[in-house]
Amino acid sequence: MDVKTDQNIHTSVLLKELVGAISLKKDEKNIVVDATLGLAGHAGEILKEMNPGDILVGFDADERNLKLAKNRLEKIQTQYAPEVQIILIHSNFVDLRERLQDNGITYVRAIYYDLWVSSLHFDEADRGFSLRLNGPLDMRFDTRSWKTAAELINYSEEKDLFQIFKEYGEEPYARKIAAKIIESRKEQKFQTTGDLTNFLDEKINTHIKTKMRVFQALRIAVNSELYNLEKSLWDAIELLEQDWIIFAISFHSLEDRIVKQTLKRESRDCLCSDIICSCKHTKTVKILTKKPILPDEWEQKNNPRSRSAKARAAVKI
Ligand SMILES: C[S@@+](CC[C@H](N)C(=O)[O-])C[C@H]1O[C@@H](n2cnc3c(N)ncnc32)[C@H](O)[C@@H]1O
Repeated sequence: MDVKTDQNIHTSVLLKELVGAISLKKDEKNIVVDATLGLAGHAGEILKEMNPGDILVGFDADERNLKLAKNRLEKIQTQYAPEVQIILIHSNFVDLRERLQDNGITYVRAIYYDLWVSSLHFDEADRGFSLRLNGPLDMRFDTRSWKTAAELINYSEEKDLFQIFKEYGEEPYARKIAAKIIESRKEQKFQTTGDLTNFLDEKINTHIKTKMRVFQALRIAVNSELYNLEKSLWDAIELLEQDWIIFAISFHSLEDRIVKQTLKRESRDCLCSDIICSCKHTKTVKILTKKPILPDEWEQKNNPRSRSAKARAAVKI
């Protein structure tokens, strides 16, 4: 599914796999939550399958994407699903449970995540996600939050920068990069993505992979992506009704590890390794994907962005 805006296109990843996994029931009220609405490529296809009285909830931390999704969903709603209620929420999915409760929703029938950024984020210089385009060093999904990539780079301590590049970028030059940033920012603060890429070229190396890892690490830190994902997954599993599905598409190993480990932990009876265990945890999900779902050859060829995608799913028991 290609979703076109005035200048850009976002192609949804693993579309048929995700839509196929969410089988809605007729004559029952289905509440489906898209935790990362983006341009509503997945949500639009699911909306077409929904029945009168069902509810589709879409979250996005990015207000611009939420507005584009709203236009798209309204068109689909008019044509295919006039009696489905659509609730769009400008919020980080870390607050999923609270925002759903604000809307009177205390259980959900299916919930899915399509992580990472939309193609639009990379195509718009002013958001600061792009290596190719010069723009402010921002990288926030939600422009209401206070922490930009420039603030992190210009004011964090060396040990914290090192930790960010090492943990979130798995960057071999993490120590050197952190040390050189401290040196460089004494002369001049980092303001733009161009300042950062030039710095990396001049002071570290010209390898594109180093730049990609540094950008990824900063984006994860700016948006607290890993903490937010883990908390949101716990809440989502708790909100799910029995026999219903949670589905998550991730694009890098750090995210995938969180999805995999959270589902694994929730699929076991006991979390403790102690001999005498008092946690009394009982399993809450059954994993549906022993191995992750990957895009087929056709999709990988036609949408290079899909090549790193991995999806995992589980059903509430
Ligand atoms: C890959 S895109 C989703 C694309 C969508 N599935 C489609 O097919 O059009 C991911 C979206 O999730 C949003 N996002 C990322 N992290 C988020 C978070 N923690 N909370 C809410 N939205 C988030 C981004 O702003 C982006 O719009």
